[in-house]
Amino acid sequence: MSDLPAGLQRRDFDGDSSLATRGDPVYGEPTADGWRAWDPRRSKLAAMIELEMNTGLQAGATVLYLGAAAGTTVSHVADFAGPTYAVEFAPRPIQQLLSVAESRSRLFPLFKDARDPDSYTHIVESDVDAIIQDVATRGQADVALRNRRFLSQDGRLITVIKARSEDVTAAPSDVFSRATTELATEYKLLETQRLEPYHDDHLAVIATPE
Ligand SMILES: C[S@@+](CC[C@H](N)C(=O)[O-])C[C@H]1O[C@@H](n2cnc3c(N)ncnc32)[C@H](O)[C@@H]1O
Repeated sequence: MSDLPAGLQRRDFDGDSSLATRGDPVYGEPTADGWRAWDPRRSKLAAMIELEMNTGLQAGATVLYLGAAAGTTVSHVADFAGPTYAVEFAPRPIQQLLSVAESRSRLFPLFKDARDPDSYTHIVESDVDAIIQDVATRGQADVALRNRRFLSQDGRLITVIKARSEDVTAAPSDVFSRATTELATEYKLLETQRLEPYHDDHLAVIATPE
């Protein structure tokens, strides 16, 4: 496995080796000695790391996370990253996200629509080190393009395209081809990989501003 950022380790949980971060548990995940297991079947970012994609994530990085839901993945990110702005537009998960943030001083939940970055441009600092995006709605590449303005010139877009969210009838490979072509108008794609066996019909993309 490629180098992990400080604060992200492989640990043993009752005989099972797992990625792990240090922090309060969030979703009933196994814990041991203050560490919490990070399950690649529940988190596309953990799946990317298990599949040895080079996310470029560093301890202390400033992160803009789009599509935070109830905080399963972003809680792990905030355990080892620096300021982590977590955008979510659905009212129910944001309530849970707020309680996840209570024990995480670097996690900032934003009840905002990721298609409208003007609505949080006064809150999110510019030149973030990474945008992590998992919105699973139509127009996933467009969301990444709209938020590019926040990313530093050598920052990383770490995103996942869910084929069925774009078009339930199209072949996933066609959906991925359209999405990567759209992303390539403003990003240089560094790595793409499908997330099987952890997540079906998802393409992970790591890119940097063009
Ligand atoms: C697949 S879930 C995210 C799961 C989460 N990333 C995790 O691993 O814990 C997608 C989330 O994106 C949110 N979402 C979709 N479109 C959005 C938008 N335009 N702005 C903000 N949140 C959005 C949905 O409400 C949903 O909670």
